[in-house]
Amino acid sequence: MNIQKYLAEWKKKIDEKLLEYLPSEDTYPPTLSKAMRYTVLAGGKRIRPILLITIYQLCGGKDLNKIFPVACALEFIHSYSLIHDDLPAIDNDDYRRGILSSHKKFGENIAILAGDALFSHNFRIVVESSIDPKEKEKILKVLTFFVGNRGIIGGQVKDVESNTNMKDPKLLRYIHSHKTAFFFSAACEIGGILACVDKDKLISLRMGGLYLGMTFQIVDDILDVEGRRDELGKDIKSDEDKLTYPAQYGLKFSKKIAKKYSELSIKEFEMVDDGSKVMKNMVLFLLGRIK
Ligand code: IPE
Ligand code: IPE
Ligand code: MG
Ligand code: MG
Ligand code: MG
Repeated sequence: MNIQKYLAEWKKKIDEKLLEYLPSEDTYPPTLSKAMRYTVLAGGKRIRPILLITIYQLCGGKDLNKIFPVACALEFIHSYSLIHDDLPAIDNDDYRRGILSSHKKFGENIAILAGDALFSHNFRIVVESSIDPKEKEKILKVLTFFVGNRGIIGGQVKDVESNTNMKDPKLLRYIHSHKTAFFFSAACEIGGILACVDKDKLISLRMGGLYLGMTFQIVDDILDVEGRRDELGKDIKSDEDKLTYPAQYGLKFSKKIAKKYSELSIKEFEMVDDGSKVMKNMVLFLLGRIK
């Protein structure tokens, strides 16, 4: 299978769906609607929704219309987290997804509020979807846990409280797992919940997603050192004062750790992969990505 083609096709489909769930430009107040649309529609790899859809299908799920709202909700949460992550008070990055960051385009006040609106929008979409109420409750439990104080926000807090001189493997693992890997884990677990898989498979999906998320964030750290701004669509060398894998372990060893996590992830996903190798190919592609 050609994984790049697979990812590109799904990205196209998700882009279409995102448009359906976003407020139109003239929805009042228009400044907010424009800002919500700006970052979401700027692009992005759509990895989290693709993971959810891929896992759902590998686990035997057939009803794509049922899961599109949840897939889009994940992308809204992710986009909100990027808008807030770029703010001067957090990472202070002016460039995102190949265009000006939200606060550079709309000002800090609107960027903060557009992030807030995308965050709440995602829950509305899930709640209003036609998913069975019992499944919905399970999904919301996973989502609300992983995006909150014991998930993304906790990770972001330790990220801003740390710096490159605070070498500490345990703290570094906390930051990367919470700010990024837990959300990958949630995308995979929710794909399994929607396909009604058994508990053992759910645990493998959760762990596979966690290890893939660690791979992803370590590679992100490496690309901040070695990547190209035009490929990444965001500024490089912006983590020089941060506690990152290259800061803690150096580039060479960071690459080894990322590879190790990718292997752990592939092993967990074997539990649901029917021999198509789509997850293996996806993990390896994300390990070797340049953007
Ligand atoms: C960027 O995520 C933030 C991290 C967790 C490293 P992505 O690399 O998935 O960003 P987009 O969605 O493709 O822009
Ligand atoms: C992003 O981590 C994590 C979240 C947005 C939650 P980074 O700060 O490393 O992401 P980039 O490099 O700005 O995309
Ligand atoms: Mg950050
Ligand atoms: Mg950042
Ligand atoms: Mg980064």
